[in-house]
Amino acid sequence: MKELSQNLSKAPKSKIRELFDIALGRSDVISLGIGQPDFPTPEPAIRGTIEALRKGVTAYAPTRGLPELLELIENKLRKVNNIETNWKESIIVTNGGSQALCLAYASLFNPGDELILFSPNFLSYFYIASFFGVKIVEIERNSDFSPNLEKLKKAITEKTKAIIINSPNNPTGYAFSSKELNEIVDIVNENDMFIISDEVYENYLYDGLKHLSPASFNGMINRTITTNAMSKLFSATGFRLGYAVASKEIIDLMEKFHQYTVAGTNHAAQYGFIEALKMDIKFFEKILKSFDERRNLVYDRLKNMGFDVVKPRGAFYIMPSLKKFNMTGSEFSSEIMKKKGVAIIPGETFGSFSNYMVRISYATAIDKIKEAMDRIEEFFKEL
Ligand SMILES: Cc1ncc(COP(=O)(O)O)c(C=O)c1O
Repeated sequence: MKELSQNLSKAPKSKIRELFDIALGRSDVISLGIGQPDFPTPEPAIRGTIEALRKGVTAYAPTRGLPELLELIENKLRKVNNIETNWKESIIVTNGGSQALCLAYASLFNPGDELILFSPNFLSYFYIASFFGVKIVEIERNSDFSPNLEKLKKAITEKTKAIIINSPNNPTGYAFSSKELNEIVDIVNENDMFIISDEVYENYLYDGLKHLSPASFNGMINRTITTNAMSKLFSATGFRLGYAVASKEIIDLMEKFHQYTVAGTNHAAQYGFIEALKMDIKFFEKILKSFDERRNLVYDRLKNMGFDVVKPRGAFYIMPSLKKFNMTGSEFSSEIMKKKGVAIIPGETFGSFSNYMVRISYATAIDKIKEAMDRIEEFFKEL
């Protein structure tokens, strides 16, 4: 038979899936691998979706999304992100943050273009690139996970089209300072680049840090694609709803790709997203406090066990190093699963510079986190 797609064959099977396969059928496993919050989806989102279905909203939705939803997103962008935009031409509703990223790649790149990212970083950035023939250029982060801006400047070539950033970040928990973001924006401007800003964790920031969107910076609106989703703020990963914000030219291209590949997003669920966006954001304060407690607990426990670990500033992940224990992330992840039933993602999943790290998600109940930390401590005592 003829060869199947090389682009798809090249992408490895997700390590996260492999771990879940091992965990299958074991009731004792505690997962610190998950990338979704553990609180229930707020009631208005559920009610909005169900009521829409009851009213017979089962046909195709408008390709770019429901006007009422687009308008609410425009208002949110103005109020929360300081981004001035027009819903009629600059926003598209997508199947989660993932498809917003896919549309960003589809509209920006030609095969052979280079896309820069700080590594480690979110795994999909690498594989979507391979699907579109885009070359990823990884810039190793500093040891505290801050961006190395000198290396960034040196990595820019004729072929560099864009940089993709994600602050707060999965997997490192790093969030840019305003100085860092300003410097990145200057580099982007000086080199005629685009910036893809994945802001799905914008609400998960600790210690009073404030989120900044590059699209709100002077002159950046046409150089920036901002992507976001309903998934993390509303604990609604299964709704598969998100959005992309960009110039009219880019959104027009996105619309074509969207039309011919997915023909829109779930119609009824968009009514759920509408109700969620109408909610007072205060509902999230208690949730953030609880995530902050988990962050402190995990950080303190890992530190006490002797890990080299950076305290996350945002999102719900922490990425300790195992170099001191002379163990790769893969070795640790597979041993801790086999011996102690704790699922943790090996660092190599997130790029070329994190082989000696693992990613721990603390988006799980605090008593489970405590138990998992006890098991990790026992594991090292028994070594
Ligand atoms: C950094 C980052 N971007 C995008 C996504 C995708 O979000 P969604 O579930 O809305 O597709 C995730 C999911 O974990 C993520 O961590």
